[in-house]
Amino acid sequence: ESMKAAFGLSALEQKLADKLQIPEVIVLADDSDEQSWVKRELGRACIDIMGSRLAPGDVVAVAGGTTLASIAEMMVPNDVFSSITFVPARGGLGEDVEIQSNTIVSQMAKRARANYRLLHVPDQLSEETRDSLQLEPGIKELLELIRRPRMVVHGIGEAETMALRRRTEETAVDELKKQEAVAEAFGYYFDKDGRIVHKEQTTGLQLDDLTEEQTVITVAGGASKAEAIAAYMRYRPSDLLITDEGAAQAVLNYA
Ligand code: G3H
Repeated sequence: ESMKAAFGLSALEQKLADKLQIPEVIVLADDSDEQSWVKRELGRACIDIMGSRLAPGDVVAVAGGTTLASIAEMMVPNDVFSSITFVPARGGLGEDVEIQSNTIVSQMAKRARANYRLLHVPDQLSEETRDSLQLEPGIKELLELIRRPRMVVHGIGEAETMALRRRTEETAVDELKKQEAVAEAFGYYFDKDGRIVHKEQTTGLQLDDLTEEQTVITVAGGASKAEAIAAYMRYRPSDLLITDEGAAQAVLNYA
């Protein structure tokens, strides 16, 4: 904490928490857009929080992306983790395998010596097939865990960056532009006022499932995500935001 005070990061944390109206913010030094190690620091901070806030037997739903992958990369065992179960938040969203939530979950759990369950449902399914798959006993039971976790850990992306990275069809990208989407999280896209403008059709956690009972931790850094972070927090303020100075300063400067 004294180091933080010296660098003025505590003041930044307070200002950002007030601005975004979220109970708690952790700001780490530097900008993950510029320094790749900052993402690993975000990961380390998230692991500390998980270690101190989880109780034995808890279920943690984990989303995808490079930030979440860096949490998995930094994961170390902790007494409480051995009885935790990690599950993917949602099914595939068209990401490369390395940054899909299933992959992240398995790596995170192995490094933490925790339990995990994976969701094996193809991305591109008709609504009918998805509905009937969800009734399969094994999948149904897993979806119940996924949709009622104790903690949710997720990233936020800038809308167009995410749509392009997921090789979203051109017509859909145009539609997102028309709707002025600026943020993406869990496969949901938001405009600057935090309104959902598009939702990827995939199984797993739906944002409507979240209640006061879940601790939602958002991990997102880099000045390029400032608008996205602000937009998403207007939709639903997370319990905790773990970010970096680059994003924090940019959120405070913007709007
Ligand atoms: O949904 C948000 C994105 O998965 C964030 O991805 O951590 O690679 O920026 P990123």
